Amino acid sequence: MSWPFKAWESLFVNSTYMDINGKYFRAFVEREEELKKQYSAERIRKQHSKGKLTAHERIALLFDEGTFEEIDTYVTPSDQGVEFGKVERSYGDGVVTGHGKIDGRLVFAFAQDFTIMGGSLGIVHARKIAKVQEMALKMGAPFIGINDSGGARIQEGIASLNGYAVIFNNIIQSSGIIPQISVIMGPAAGGAVYAPALTDWVFMTSNTSYMFVTGPNVVREVLNEEISSEDLGGAEVHARKSGVANMIYDDEENTIIAVRKFLSYLPSNNLENPPVASWTKDTPDINPKLRDIVPDDPNKAYDVRDIINQVVDRNSFFETSELFAPSLVTGFGRMEGRTVGIVANQPKVLAGVLDIDSSVKGARFIRFCDAFNIPILTLEDVPGFLPGKDQEHSGIIRHGAKMLFAYAEATVPRITVILRKAYGGAYIVMNSKGMGGDFNFAWPSAEIAVMGPDGAVAILYRRELAEAKDPAALKKELVKKYREKVANPFIADEKGFIDEVIDPAYTRLKLLSAFSALSNKSVKVPSRKHGNIPL
Ligand code: HXC
Repeated sequence: MSWPFKAWESLFVNSTYMDINGKYFRAFVEREEELKKQYSAERIRKQHSKGKLTAHERIALLFDEGTFEEIDTYVTPSDQGVEFGKVERSYGDGVVTGHGKIDGRLVFAFAQDFTIMGGSLGIVHARKIAKVQEMALKMGAPFIGINDSGGARIQEGIASLNGYAVIFNNIIQSSGIIPQISVIMGPAAGGAVYAPALTDWVFMTSNTSYMFVTGPNVVREVLNEEISSEDLGGAEVHARKSGVANMIYDDEENTIIAVRKFLSYLPSNNLENPPVASWTKDTPDINPKLRDIVPDDPNKAYDVRDIINQVVDRNSFFETSELFAPSLVTGFGRMEGRTVGIVANQPKVLAGVLDIDSSVKGARFIRFCDAFNIPILTLEDVPGFLPGKDQEHSGIIRHGAKMLFAYAEATVPRITVILRKAYGGAYIVMNSKGMGGDFNFAWPSAEIAVMGPDGAVAILYRRELAEAKDPAALKKELVKKYREKVANPFIADEKGFIDEVIDPAYTRLKLLSAFSALSNKSVKVPSRKHGNIPL
C-alpha cells in the first residue's frame, strides 16, 4: 500500500472532470495535506524509536500489496462524550480500519495507532472497529485486530467503556463463525485485554508488547510488589505461563509474516473447508524411518514432533502454543495439501502427562478445529494425568473434563494413532473409540491398559511382593508378564477397541486413506441450545 493514500488520484484520473470539479479536487488535496501533517515525522520517529511500526506500516505488511482499502479515514472524534479534559482533533481517531486480501482471500482488520492519543479507544474509534467487525461477520471473512493502545480513553469515560462492550459482544457473536486473530504490538491494559482474550488466537511481539488487567503501578500500590511490565505481562510470560499468547515472535515483521502464514491453514468461515494448498509428492507415504523413532524402552523419551514431521506434508507443521503446557503438542499440518489439526502427547516433557494446562490447551484447540471444519489427528503416548496435591486442588478433575467434552462434541473426522502408552483415563480422553473416534489405529509398540505395569503389579500383588524373598526380581517378572498379557495393542484389536494395528512405516498411507474415507462425514447433533462444557 502506498502512503499517503491519494484517494483523489483515482477519482480524478480524468482531467476534464478534474477541471470542472476543481473545487472538489482542492478539498481532497487540502484534506490529504492535513492528514499528512497529522502523521508528522516526529510522531513516526517516536513510534519507531520504541522498536514499533506505525499502524499503516503494519497493515501494509499484513495485506497483499496494494489490496488494503481503508475506510473511515477522515472520521474525527466526537466531543459529545468528553467528560474530562480534551480530545485531540484527529482524522481516523487513532485506528486504521478496512479490508484487503491475504493470499488473495478477503480479510477485515483494524490497527490501533498509538501515535494518536496513545491509540486509546473513544466512541468513534470503537464505532470504526465495530463497523468492520460486523462487515467481516456478514461477509464470512476472517478478522484481525492489531492492538497498540492505552485502553479506554480516559476523557470519554463511560462511552469508551461501552465501546469496548460493543466490541466484546461482536467478538462473541462472531465466535465459531469467522476466525478471529489478535496481534498485540504494544500495550493492552485493563479490561481492554478481554478483547484479544475472547478471540481465537493471540500473537504477541517480544519486548514491545504487554498485556495485564492491572499494571505494575497498581501491583505496587495494592501488593507492595515491584515488577516490570515485561515480567508482569510480556510476550514470554503469556506464551509460557498464562497461555494467553499462542504465538510470539522477536519482531513485528516476523509476527505479521507468521499471521499471514497461519491464516493459510484456516477457512474463511465455518461454512467453508480450509483452502487446499499446493503440494508436491516429496513426503513418502511409506516411510520406514517411523519404525525407529519410538524407543523400545518405554521409559525413554523422544520428541513426538519427529513423528508429526514425517507424517504431514514436508515442512507443513505449524505448532500452536508451543511454549505453553509443552507436554501436549498442538498445531496444524497438511496432508496432501489439506489442513489437519494435530493433538499429540509429548513424551519429551513430563513423559507426556496430561495436566491442567495441557488439558485446557488441548480442549481449546480441538474446539477451534471442530468449529472450522478441520479434521483432528491424535497421536497418543500418555502415561496418565499428573498426580499430586497441586493438580488435584487446582482442579485437574474439572479441567481434564474439558478435553473429554471437546473431543466428544467434535463432529469433524477424528483419528487416533496410539504410539506407545495409553493408560487409564488418559487413554479414554485421547479420542478413544468409545469417545467417538472414527478410526483408532495402534502401533505394535502400543501399551493399552487401565494403568502402567508398575502401578498395576503393585496393587494386584502387594501381599506377594511383601512376602517375597526377592521382591525386585518378582516385580520384574510380573511387570514383564503384564506387558505381554495386557499392555499390548493386540488385545484391544481383538476386542474391537482398535480398528487396526499398523506398521509405523505405513502411518501416512493409512491416515491419507482414512481421512479420505471420512471426507463426507456427517453427524446429526441432538437439538439443544448448547451443551454445558465444564468451564
Ligand atoms: C487517553 C491516553 C490513554 C488513555 C495513553 N494516553 N493512554 N489518553 N486515554 N487511556 C495518551 C497519553 O496521555 C499520551 O498523550 C499518549 O497517549 C502516549 O502515552 P504515554 O503515556 O506518553 O506513552 P507510554 O509512556 O508509552 O505509556 C503507555 C501506557 C500509559 C503504559 C499505555 O499511557 C498508560 O498507562 N496509559 C493508561 C493505561 C490505562 O490504565 N488505561 C485504562 C485501562 S482500563 P500525549 O498527548 O502526551 O502524547 C480499560 C478499560 C477497558 O481500558 C474496559 C473494558 C471492559
